[in-house]
Amino acid sequence: DLDHPDRRPAAVAELRRRVAAADGLLIATPEFNYSVPGVLKNAIDWISTDGTRTEGLPLHRKPIAILGAAPTNFGTVRAQLALRQVFVWTDSDVVVKPEVHLFRSHERFDADGTLTDETSVALLRDLLTALRTKIENRA
Ligand SMILES: Cc1cc2nc3c(=O)[nH]c(=O)nc-3n(C[C@H](O)[C@H](O)[C@H](O)COP(=O)(O)O)c2cc1C
Repeated sequence: DLDHPDRRPAAVAELRRRVAAADGLLIATPEFNYSVPGVLKNAIDWISTDGTRTEGLPLHRKPIAILGAAPTNFGTVRAQLALRQVFVWTDSDVVVKPEVHLFRSHERFDADGTLTDETSVALLRDLLTALRTKIENRA
């Protein structure tokens, strides 16, 4: 078992360190097979444990905001719901609303990749405001 402070891969140790040090997390995810992409789930799993039980849990009470964009009609709805379920167990402090599912995302950006859809911009602003409020309330 590599999940021990003395044996963890360097990338895992660094991810744990960064997440523990962060005021909050903003996670933008695509959807794979109606769920969380395996790479993201694996990263969360690596930092969700307490290893020796003497360390802090990096995700415990961590303020987190979630968003996603996809050209489909559902815009990562299922991936985001699955991700919220994961953060129940880690006892993370996830922003509940607004939900930011940028469906038909290709219609919301201009040719340079700039987000031009005003509804989406307002949603993102509200999401970040809610995340900031959680961070300030935790401090
Ligand atoms: C294995 C795999 C499964 C996918 N499953 C879904 C899915 O369930 N729902 C969805 O909206 N998009 C799905 N997609 C599309 C991706 O979320 C993404 O929109 C697509 O790969 C385009 O992004 P990219 O240009 O960064 O690869 C899937 C893609 C892959 C490679």
